[in-house]
Amino acid sequence: MSERLPILFNKKPCYDIVFTQSFDELWDELKNLGCENRRICIVTDSKVDELYGKSVLEILQGKCLKASKYAFPHGEESKNLDTVREIYKFLIEEGFDRKDLLLALGGGVVGDTTGYVAATYLRGIDFVQVPTTLLSQADSSIGGKTGVDFDGYKNMVGAFKMPSLVYMNLSVLTTLDDRQFFSGFGEVMKHGLIKDALFYEWLIENMYEICERDLNVLQEMLIRSCTVKKLVVEKDPTELGERALLNFGHTIGHAIEKAKNFELFHGECVALGAVAAAYISWKREMLSMEEYYEIRDMFVPFYLPISVDGIEPEEILRLTKSDKKMESGKIKFVLLKKIGKAVIDNTVTDEEILAAINEINFSEEDAHA
Ligand code: GLY
Repeated sequence: MSERLPILFNKKPCYDIVFTQSFDELWDELKNLGCENRRICIVTDSKVDELYGKSVLEILQGKCLKASKYAFPHGEESKNLDTVREIYKFLIEEGFDRKDLLLALGGGVVGDTTGYVAATYLRGIDFVQVPTTLLSQADSSIGGKTGVDFDGYKNMVGAFKMPSLVYMNLSVLTTLDDRQFFSGFGEVMKHGLIKDALFYEWLIENMYEICERDLNVLQEMLIRSCTVKKLVVEKDPTELGERALLNFGHTIGHAIEKAKNFELFHGECVALGAVAAAYISWKREMLSMEEYYEIRDMFVPFYLPISVDGIEPEEILRLTKSDKKMESGKIKFVLLKKIGKAVIDNTVTDEEILAAINEINFSEEDAHA
């Protein structure tokens, strides 16, 4: 059964997240946005295009004013201004005007890039998110953050642009390979850790069904996970304060992602960054030792890494400081007071960060221990 979660912006209804298990209701949802009289361009990547491009295009053909599709090469390397430029060119050639709409069909790279095009093409046109990875369903498709990487800096150029609808067909999660699927748990676990201890416990209790990809359990999981994100982004849509809590695990996580040249998935890096942030929280006596080890070890059944090899702690520290999560030259770090309660702290020292990086640094010594 499909369910929906409304998201408010400035206390007014802005868009709905629809949780369902097929594409059957997609056209009705688009019709509610007046799409019969609008052109729609599906923007996707080469991998998702092969799986779902044709069937989603067929849903639109003959129903909206014109249905087009643009696919760019799969991967983080495509998340840049060159791809944005190519999409602008395509939209101009296809005659898209201000009342037309983009449909982002794919994971975080597709959603963030398409959203940025929607924010800027003709000073802004509507867009719909149809996220196809667990990571984008749990996190990046909600809350209106859009953007691209720039000169190796992650998400350095972007805009806040709210989608008109987020349509989650959970059955697409069954075609993800294990690594891609489990990577999404970096963000799902994050939502429990920062705001909802009961959800965190629920994840542990339902681990078997989750790992088996039981769609009804995944639907409940995503509704609970998205509810945490909803409450945060509704209060602080443009990250003037509390929204920064959602960056838990991302400060060191982004640095590792860049140092490893995007070989590790985003959710894997978030898990590593979360272990490092929990370690600092333990050393500051905010978390107990038991809580720290519980947090660390709970990533393991979801096949997420808790240590990484081939990193230089000093390089990770340097990259941590070049990330955009800085305020007046200080790193805005997110720490845990307890499971389910995160706080923003800008007093974390280089020594604390280095100690945390060493904690997750897998060395030859560990291998032989
Ligand atoms: N992914 C963090 C945020 O949406 O703010």
